[in-house]
Amino acid sequence: LEFTQQLSDHPKSAEERAAILADPGFGNYFTDHTAVVDYKVDAEGNGGWSGARIEPYGPIALDPSAAVLHYGQEIFEGMKAYKHADGSVWTFRPEANAKRMNRSARRLALPEIPEETFLESLRQLVEVDKDWVPNGDGEALYLRPFMIATEAFLGVRPAREVSFRVIASPVGNYFGGELKPVSIWLSEQYARAGRGGTGEAKCGGNYAASLAPQMEAEAHGCKQVLFLDPFNDNAVEELGGMNIFFVFKDGTLVTPELNGNILHGVTRSSIIQLAKDRGLEVQERKITIDEWRDGVASGDITEAFACGTAAVITPIGELKTKDGSIGSPGGNAGEVSMSIRKQLLGIQTGAVEDTHGWLTRL
Ligand code: COI
Repeated sequence: LEFTQQLSDHPKSAEERAAILADPGFGNYFTDHTAVVDYKVDAEGNGGWSGARIEPYGPIALDPSAAVLHYGQEIFEGMKAYKHADGSVWTFRPEANAKRMNRSARRLALPEIPEETFLESLRQLVEVDKDWVPNGDGEALYLRPFMIATEAFLGVRPAREVSFRVIASPVGNYFGGELKPVSIWLSEQYARAGRGGTGEAKCGGNYAASLAPQMEAEAHGCKQVLFLDPFNDNAVEELGGMNIFFVFKDGTLVTPELNGNILHGVTRSSIIQLAKDRGLEVQERKITIDEWRDGVASGDITEAFACGTAAVITPIGELKTKDGSIGSPGGNAGEVSMSIRKQLLGIQTGAVEDTHGWLTRL
């Protein structure tokens, strides 16, 4: 698909942009443009993508009956663009995000988007908004591709009109300020996913369902909520918006296996590879809350961390539960966690050799 370009006639000034880039936070500010591709099913039932374009960032006109507003037919992705020392801009494993988006699309009965179109939309957007890519420590231009059902129709069936879009937001640390270990809260009243549900799809509904437990977490002074599978021995699943890893005393990494309920994190899979490259054992398996508690008590589990595109690797200091806590609020950032974080960020920002060919120039 060829992209057409309509540039904003009121982009932010260089001064406004510099003020934003000085302290972007996470998801607060957006660049001047957006990429859009439309999908439509015709009278013969054939669907196709068209109208690829760059347009000024701004509100979307949607019919009030658009399916996304009623039945949540929506999926999204999270990626980052990094500025290297020579000024070139790169992204990390975009084909993995394209594949995951299409996997989510199949689950949410949305159309699959060709990988080249997905990638080209990132390229086109970053091309017009390249001055928005920050290059401070841990900073990047967060790219948010998403797909919404725009058809005006209230029957419950897959929409025949869909819009794929990409927006971009300069970001720093997801949790704000300097990186430090976070406290997380154990959700006991709510689960995140059920067997056969949408747990492994990256759809808005999963995140909407995490908000009530997330409020509970915040009321207890925690930054994220942890979900268990109450029908599977309280196996650890994931956090509201990120995957989780444990580091054992002997250097083994353990992370919950992809059992249908868990998001197929690109950061998760990259960490598994980097740990294996170091000769560490990595186990993708069931790990229960009891194993975590006992492991910390006996000293067998020495570190835990959250990971995701937004969170990168964020050490977990403490898991608070209604009956006490695992770990401590002032817990130190673990050595293994921080070392893998440094290597991963190094690859992404061009400071460390990319031996796996994970980077794509935008
Ligand atoms: C990401 O890590 O990119 C996500 O989509 C998670 C969200 C908490 C920002």
